[in-house]
Amino acid sequence: MKLGKRLATIAALVPPGGRLADIGTDHAYLPVYLVSEGIVPWAVAGEVHQGPFRAAGEALARVGLTDRIELRFGDGLAVLAPGEVDTAVIAGMGGPTIIEILSACPEVTASLSCLVLQPMLGGGAVRRWLAASGWRAVAEALVEEDGRLYEVIAAAPGAAEEYEDILYDIGPLLWDRRHPLLRDHLEALLAQARRVAAEMAASPQAVSSPKYREYLAKIAQLEDKLACL
Ligand SMILES: C[S@@+](CC[C@H](N)C(=O)[O-])C[C@H]1O[C@@H](n2cnc3c(N)ncnc32)[C@H](O)[C@@H]1O
Repeated sequence: MKLGKRLATIAALVPPGGRLADIGTDHAYLPVYLVSEGIVPWAVAGEVHQGPFRAAGEALARVGLTDRIELRFGDGLAVLAPGEVDTAVIAGMGGPTIIEILSACPEVTASLSCLVLQPMLGGGAVRRWLAASGWRAVAEALVEEDGRLYEVIAAAPGAAEEYEDILYDIGPLLWDRRHPLLRDHLEALLAQARRVAAEMAASPQAVSSPKYREYLAKIAQLEDKLACL
């Protein structure tokens, strides 16, 4: 089975040999790939919506992996008991949803030895949550698929280094290693921050808010970083 570039990048950050949970599995492509390739021995595929849950069940029956991939219906990490798996992947959701899922079941989250997260937006908020919650980033990746850039963060339990604030938005490891797609990533972050600031500039109330000043500061810091590349 061949994965698309985004899912292949996520799969490459899953530590081999451990038990996996793919939360929000949708089509179950990721656990099917990891189990059928022998990268992980066993997986839970979690899904909270009926349509994708049914589709995942059909896909697992088709490939004959129902003995090694357990499909469970439920919200986030609530489908797991503490200690049941080593790694949780939460991919293709907004940063705030990922944070909600990780915060909602603290005993399960604390029992994991690896998180592989792929936020569709709000990567900065996810990195700040990880750092404040006893997780350190061990790998970060950027991948382009169908004209869109995606970021992936792998984290392990441990005290995080402290970074310059803007690096939480950029990804400190992506910055340190000067990832080949870093310029595109910075330009995308800058375009998004400028878009929000421009929308806020239309309202006198928004312009006088601390949030607006935060966005202007973020734009200036991103421009500085781009100038350093
Ligand atoms: C855009 S899809 C991403 C699918 C897959 N993870 C990927 O990256 O290709 C998001 C999936 O997460 C599911 N989902 C959203 N919130 C969830 C939650 N709290 N618990 C479990 N699944 C959730 C949705 O039903 C949907 O199937």
